[in-house]
Amino acid sequence: MDTKELVKKLDSLLRANIDAVNSDEQALKRIDLPDVRARIQRHHDDHQRHVDTLSRLIREHGGEPTLRPRRFRGFLTRGFTMITIQGFASVRSTSETEAALDAMEGNERLMCRVYADAVSWEVDETIHDVLCANYHDEREHLVYIQRRLEHKIEIDPYHPHRTGA
Ligand SMILES: [Fe+2]
Repeated sequence: MDTKELVKKLDSLLRANIDAVNSDEQALKRIDLPDVRARIQRHHDDHQRHVDTLSRLIREHGGEPTLRPRRFRGFLTRGFTMITIQGFASVRSTSETEAALDAMEGNERLMCRVYADAVSWEVDETIHDVLCANYHDEREHLVYIQRRLEHKIEIDPYHPHRTGA
């Protein structure tokens, strides 16, 4: 993969992580249970760390990383499940925490899909290792949410090693 394509792909991943940070912050506004809050805060911090690492990698390869807008005006990534306050308000049969987690399940599932693709990129080992570590975090996020909701655990088989390159 040439540098231009790499930067483009890393930036697309970065944008998904910016969306994840925003999604976490929206959810934290609705979540009241302390243990769940603490855990979602951890997911938030992981996503923010991914934003920082991916931004650094993009700069190191001569690119300009997408910056997180100061005000949230919608997700950057197509297919990202919008978590809106209105959306939560319409869910009256479950607690706010469950409604928030329900909405977040889709976003974490998307993050896993995005990273499952990323770990198959033909990139140098340093970048590949970062992508694998991030993918590992995303899988943990999804498993936690699905366990907490007592949903079926549905993560893709993990292929941490490059098949091509
Ligand atoms: Fe995540």
